[in-house]
Amino acid sequence: MPIIVNEKDKTFTLQTKNTSYQLKVDRHGFLLHLYYGSKVEDQNLDYLVIPVDRGFSGNPYEAGEDRAYSLDTLPLEYPTDGVGDYRINAVLVLSGGANKAVDLRFHSFKQKMGKYQLPGQPALYDETGQEAETLEIVLKDSLLGLEVTLLYGIFPADDIITRAILFCNASSLELNICRAKSASLDIPYGEWDFVHFHGRHNMERIFERNSLPHGITSFGSRRGTSSHQHNPFIIICDKKTTEFTGICYGMNLVYSGSFKAEAEIDQTGLLRLNMGINDDGFNWRLKPGEIFMTPEAVLSFSKEGFSKLSHNYHNVYRNCLCRGSYKQCRRPIVINNWEATYFDFDSKKLLEIAKEAALLGIDMLVMDDGWFGKRSNDKSSLGDWVVNDEKLPGGLKPLVDSIDGLGMKFGIWFEPEMVSEDSDLCRNHPDWVLKVPGREPVRSRSQLVLDISREDVRDYLIKSISKVLDSANIEYVKWDMNRSISDWFSNKLPDEQQGELMHRYVLGLYSLLEHFVQKYPHILFEGCSGGGGRFDPAMLYYHPLIWCSDNTDAIERLKIQYGTSFAYPVAAVSSHVSAVPNHQTGRVTSLKTRAVVAMSGNFGYELNPALLSEEEKEEIKTQICLFKKYHDILHNGLYYRLSDPFKERFSAWMMVLGDGSEALLNIVVNNAEANPKHLFVKLKGLNENDCYFIDDKKYTGASLMNAGFAIKNACEDYLSLQFYLKRE
Ligand code: DGJ
Repeated sequence: MPIIVNEKDKTFTLQTKNTSYQLKVDRHGFLLHLYYGSKVEDQNLDYLVIPVDRGFSGNPYEAGEDRAYSLDTLPLEYPTDGVGDYRINAVLVLSGGANKAVDLRFHSFKQKMGKYQLPGQPALYDETGQEAETLEIVLKDSLLGLEVTLLYGIFPADDIITRAILFCNASSLELNICRAKSASLDIPYGEWDFVHFHGRHNMERIFERNSLPHGITSFGSRRGTSSHQHNPFIIICDKKTTEFTGICYGMNLVYSGSFKAEAEIDQTGLLRLNMGINDDGFNWRLKPGEIFMTPEAVLSFSKEGFSKLSHNYHNVYRNCLCRGSYKQCRRPIVINNWEATYFDFDSKKLLEIAKEAALLGIDMLVMDDGWFGKRSNDKSSLGDWVVNDEKLPGGLKPLVDSIDGLGMKFGIWFEPEMVSEDSDLCRNHPDWVLKVPGREPVRSRSQLVLDISREDVRDYLIKSISKVLDSANIEYVKWDMNRSISDWFSNKLPDEQQGELMHRYVLGLYSLLEHFVQKYPHILFEGCSGGGGRFDPAMLYYHPLIWCSDNTDAIERLKIQYGTSFAYPVAAVSSHVSAVPNHQTGRVTSLKTRAVVAMSGNFGYELNPALLSEEEKEEIKTQICLFKKYHDILHNGLYYRLSDPFKERFSAWMMVLGDGSEALLNIVVNNAEANPKHLFVKLKGLNENDCYFIDDKKYTGASLMNAGFAIKNACEDYLSLQFYLKRE
């Protein structure tokens, strides 16, 4: 039973296959967090709470002379501001403009089959209504007239618990929500490291592990997007945790806007972790009777290291987050013209690329930036979603028909949220741009941001983009977004609601995306934000694949895809083979190495095939056949990181089909060494007692996993090896 309610002990226990999560309503009606970790059957864990007077940790009035009872030291499920808990908290609400503290006490609960949804926002779902259960716990502050509902979604098979919060104003006064975290988690014991994924444009999701000190550690984004700089994912782990051993917790926010993650080790050694919308500048006016919903946070726990934690996220994202007809099946192998032509293309050039690509076995041409308005560089025309007739005479139809005639599909690039100053849209609707009155806006890549919190702006985008999509047989859209947002001022909102704009922008984006995915169910949407600047679970709800990085260098990608893999499955990653010398780094790697790396994602090419030698063309044909052959293992297999590309001389990773019958081992040498040591790689996920063939040689699963697979003479820079394993 995923939810166990013990009325006598006043405990709620959430059970997944391998984990337990327990809450308790205490004698004063506060909701305590008792436990989250490895599975514990049928036990009231309130003995873990040992109240002690710590001094300078005050006591709620009704605790009387009990100085040991303090909200400042108790493990709390959803800590609030102003009630004597001086640690980071999850909620700050003003009433009539004043901070009257937020004192939430248990009121009621409900449980039901299936998973709650958050209308207008992405969230994990349970298609059958049988895979998940929902618990709702209502807390109330009677002075403020505030009702807070804690939502829990339990996915037992994947060891996943989701959380989200509903705020309802049941008073007659306006409330201002200034902080509303999606989840908070207290763990009263342990010595912790935290892992996060930082980066920059062209180098996203870089794994970093640090020790958590006393005090507050925080990271996040204030850029209006989840950002290149910090992914909304955090892992807290024991200091001894490795890939395959030790305990760790993950928290991933299903949100594409500014967010904040915070961890605090308090005076008693308790760890508090919380995550949610970034509260810097956030102020949501909640009128009487209105409801505010936070985004969802996805939590998981593993006692078998990072690898198992990743599998939990991969499984649930593939099955219960991504949607659409391409959710499970093979996506087309694309050729994207960006690095082949940049802005310099026309129908003729695209058709030449498509013709060559068709001969190689590529499924689809994706026409990137530069096909609309009078765009010949990145300074104009964003917003004018009308085909450039000089580049594409007669519009899209003749080009797309010709591409269809080659047996290929066609995809197109848009950047709907943006506008160039040099565009008809900006000239006709200057008030549609985010801009503070009386100030000139910040430009970035020479572009400004449309106020998509406005319905009229969204209507324009729906009309103009639909017109293009309806004009030809378009089967793929790359939805790009190429700047961080500033100048947060909407002409449609009164001054007192401008603090809602950052979140309203994100809600506007969700509503646009939902419109398009519903209206065009046959179109595969690829997310992109200057590469991987918006690589988050919220975007995966709309586009099941995201361009991982503008950095297409295979060796740099090893690090980027390594970091990405901690939360996100291979099927979410878009990855292409590009030309050498690589356009971002100047590095030269073999065609094979580029393909081995790109295959661990949605495979494609980003080069001009006409410039390839005959030998290279033959090699690409083989790569495409291999990708198709291995697709099931690559995209649906369990993913194992076998080395740390930041520390080791080589990168190794493998995928294993769920029944252990087939696997693919990938190895790339990061740096060559003279007179190198042999490589010994211990494989994972095989059946110990089964035998496997690798290149006609037979090994037992136990030998490959315990003694390892041996590779001699891996002495060449960027050498790559791919081994297919088949069970006897
Ligand atoms: C940024 C994307 O990441 C690139 O792939 C390309 O689409 C450019 N934008 C086009 O402007």
